[in-house]
Amino acid sequence: MMKLDPASRIFCALDTPDVAAARKLSHALKGAVGGVKLGLEFFAANGPKGVAEISGMPVFLDLKLHDIPNTVAGAVRSVLPLNPAILTVHAAGGAAMLRAAAEAAKEKTGKSGGVRPKLVAVTVLTSLDQGDLQETGIRDKVSDQVRRLASLAQNCGIDGAVCSAHEIAALRADCGPDFTLVVPGLRPPWAAAQDQKRVTAPIEALELGADILVIGRPITGASDPRQAALRIAGELAAF
Ligand code: C5P
Repeated sequence: MMKLDPASRIFCALDTPDVAAARKLSHALKGAVGGVKLGLEFFAANGPKGVAEISGMPVFLDLKLHDIPNTVAGAVRSVLPLNPAILTVHAAGGAAMLRAAAEAAKEKTGKSGGVRPKLVAVTVLTSLDQGDLQETGIRDKVSDQVRRLASLAQNCGIDGAVCSAHEIAALRADCGPDFTLVVPGLRPPWAAAQDQKRVTAPIEALELGADILVIGRPITGASDPRQAALRIAGELAAF
């Protein structure tokens, strides 16, 4: 992957349903991070209009789309006017759904401006353990299922996967250097772990092969979010 400015690799998770709070944070973070991540909580509360209010920096729309191929393709087309830089889909939706999503994303053309979003697959949610997978009929190890789903997504034209830091090495080996690995669950050494159980420092994630780092509360919960983001970006500069 091309060498990027370290700050541009950070996407700050704005986990809030509050548009004003998200707007304030995104203004404060301009130039200090690569973009912001808005999830289902924000989208369910505010819809596309709310997303459109978060302007001036790339948006990672974490909608984790999972439905029949036609519906997912329609949902991808519906969010294209918002110009998301990154959009998530569930790899468990299967090959036809993944291909339909990838095709729909290509419909982004020059007329409305913007670049085609990077489509990134969610594999096995980290909230699921071996027992939870078994209950859904999957007897493989979680790590094997993660690898299987990431490769499936790649073979269907998806650009990358969301993964935890301890899955980076395996997915990088399986999927090669051009597959975008998006990694959450990161904590700089000076920040509290909160509810994240296995935390990795942002720079360690880069060293392992991550491309995009998703960091929320160490930035959003800091007394000066911009300073916190700049501090993390400064630490990444050593990479
Ligand atoms: O505040 P924090 O840095 O923990 O936020 C991390 C973000 O990444 C949240 O939006 C969370 O939903 C998301 N995420 C995660 N762990 C995963 C997948 C996504 O924390 N395994």
